[in-house]
Amino acid sequence: MGYGDFIVMRDLNFSVNRGDIFIIMGASGCGKSTLLKILIGLKRPLSGQVFYGDSNFWEAHPSEREQMMRGSGILYQYGALWSSMSLAENIGLTLQRYTKLNHRQIQEIVSLKLSLVGLAGFEGYYPSNISGGMKKRAALARAIVMDPDILFFDEPSAGLDPISARSLDDLILELRDSMGTTIIIVTHELASIFAIGDNSIFLDVDLKTMTASEDPNRLLAESENPTVRRFLTRGKEGAVEEKL
Ligand SMILES: Nc1ncnc2c1ncn2[C@@H]1O[C@H](COP(=O)(O)OP(=O)(O)O)[C@@H](O)[C@H]1O
Ligand SMILES: [Mg+2]
Repeated sequence: MGYGDFIVMRDLNFSVNRGDIFIIMGASGCGKSTLLKILIGLKRPLSGQVFYGDSNFWEAHPSEREQMMRGSGILYQYGALWSSMSLAENIGLTLQRYTKLNHRQIQEIVSLKLSLVGLAGFEGYYPSNISGGMKKRAALARAIVMDPDILFFDEPSAGLDPISARSLDDLILELRDSMGTTIIIVTHELASIFAIGDNSIFLDVDLKTMTASEDPNRLLAESENPTVRRFLTRGKEGAVEEKL
């Protein structure tokens, strides 16, 4: 994958199991967000293929791709709620656009999703009236409004204090456990990686390819790759400061 002549990563080969929390990790600039864009249909790979089940995603007609993405939800790094809309309006928007549900039905689903993320009763609040952690939760409520099979997160805990980040991790685990959602997360937060990751890949920014594909806790215990080790033991093993 890359931009024009600029190759970001090559020879990536991995599978994501249904119901797993799958972590895409690596140093800043290694290509995590680029890979996510390729997986969600925002950017075509320079070569190679992406399969959802048996469907070859990038060979499919754009309308089929869009259809396939209806079954997924996305939470971006900077939440990106519409500041001029209440939480209820933000979360209800997709339902308004893509379903034939009436206003009352939409409000019911919105309230249900808000309560799932711990924001019951916040329907009428505006993004500027709530904390960063609450904005993330609201953005998460919006991402799950269509009951997605797959949820994508790009650096979900970026900008959060450690306690809010932990409770977001707990929430992600809860969602997976209660709804069976497959979750693909881009992050370099070690606490999240070890707390919630079932499986992971490590993108090596210097080698421009993936050098590990494993349960992160197992990688930590067993990997002998120095770059992977340095990444997973930041500040604990050796004195080398990782550039992040
Ligand atoms: N639209 C773009 N055009 C050209 N290069 C880009 C673009 N977006 C990202 N890049 C470059 O691609 C590399 C990977 O970026 P990115 O996927 O954002 O990394 P990460 O999310 O791991 O920090 C970086 O060198 C970045 O500068
Ligand atoms: Mg990124």
